[in-house]
Amino acid sequence: DKGGWSSFMAKEINEQPEAIANTVRGRIVGDSVEIPELTALGDDRLRGIDRIIIIACGTASYAGQIGAYAIEQWARIPVDVQLSHEFRYRDPVLTDRTMVISVSQSGETMDTLMAVKYAIEKGVTTVSVCNTQSATIPRESDAAVYTHAGPEVAVASTKAFTAQITALFLIGLHLGRVRGELSAEALAEAVQQFEELPEKMRAAVDTHAEITQLAHWMADTRSVLFLGRHVGFPAALEGALKLKEIAYIHAEGFAAGELKHGPIALIDHGQPVFVLVPSPRTAPLMHSKVVSNIQEIRARGARVIAIVEVGDTAVLPYADEVIRLPLTDALFEPILQVVPLQWFALELSTAKGLDVDQPRNLAKSVTVE
Ligand code: F6R
Repeated sequence: DKGGWSSFMAKEINEQPEAIANTVRGRIVGDSVEIPELTALGDDRLRGIDRIIIIACGTASYAGQIGAYAIEQWARIPVDVQLSHEFRYRDPVLTDRTMVISVSQSGETMDTLMAVKYAIEKGVTTVSVCNTQSATIPRESDAAVYTHAGPEVAVASTKAFTAQITALFLIGLHLGRVRGELSAEALAEAVQQFEELPEKMRAAVDTHAEITQLAHWMADTRSVLFLGRHVGFPAALEGALKLKEIAYIHAEGFAAGELKHGPIALIDHGQPVFVLVPSPRTAPLMHSKVVSNIQEIRARGARVIAIVEVGDTAVLPYADEVIRLPLTDALFEPILQVVPLQWFALELSTAKGLDVDQPRNLAKSVTVE
């Protein structure tokens, strides 16, 4: 049931405030974070972990990349992110102090399941971040940390993605607390961010009307670029993937700093570029770097669509379009920033008369290697 929406994807984008609230529920206790499934592993085991590898495919791997920044920051454990289908071929260094966290909406993705089985054989601790109760991957793993986004029907993942980031952040906070790496203030600050997040997410969902207008004049676009820095980089990759998947438009995401190392040659007159602009309050250095990137591409003719936090005026002279999102901490920004990008892909797909929920050549769950 699409609940009055034109597609499941539209419905699922709209459900993100609840998906996040449900994923957080029961895991914030007062000013602290506790995930009972991690507690069950034993604090000594969690304190002994010296390396984390996140494995996933597609959208889930971008959630993993965003989660990696937060886990490193809060728990001070080195984190790598690897695509499931590349993982075992590199003969990874795995010990009994390694934790492998798999991220999968379906919990049935064969590439990820095979990677988890490989990790289990090597004797590492396996944690599954999964949206589907009792799927194969969480059943095989030592611990299952479910995202409670509710069933996701559209092939293109939306609410599962933001719920995956949420779950990985909670894991980072839990590990940081148990390992004594996180001050009470930092923990309380993150808890506060989570409490405010559903309402901010609603504001991000409300960018729909603006994005619809934008997509309208861009219906003939043949290529779109996405730029981000830090956690905005994987969010840019996700924006590009959504557009390829459902609007069949060539799209690429870049780390903004990488521009001058090659991709800037792609910028030509009228090239649309979405830029995810970090907060000038909480990330002033990154913000000023990204504003210079915008100036560089604008000078070469790019059509810049800047996604900024409300009140950021530094980009105004250089952006053709500005999408404003509520203030939040730097780490949390991609959770909001991706929402207008989801709408953009949906509206371009619709403008081209395509089937938003069932893109060609794709299945919701990829159960072959
Ligand atoms: C993107 C998309 C795919 C999946 C990927 C992993 O919109 O749907 O990239 O994210 O196939 O699927 P799960 O999360 O089920 O393992």
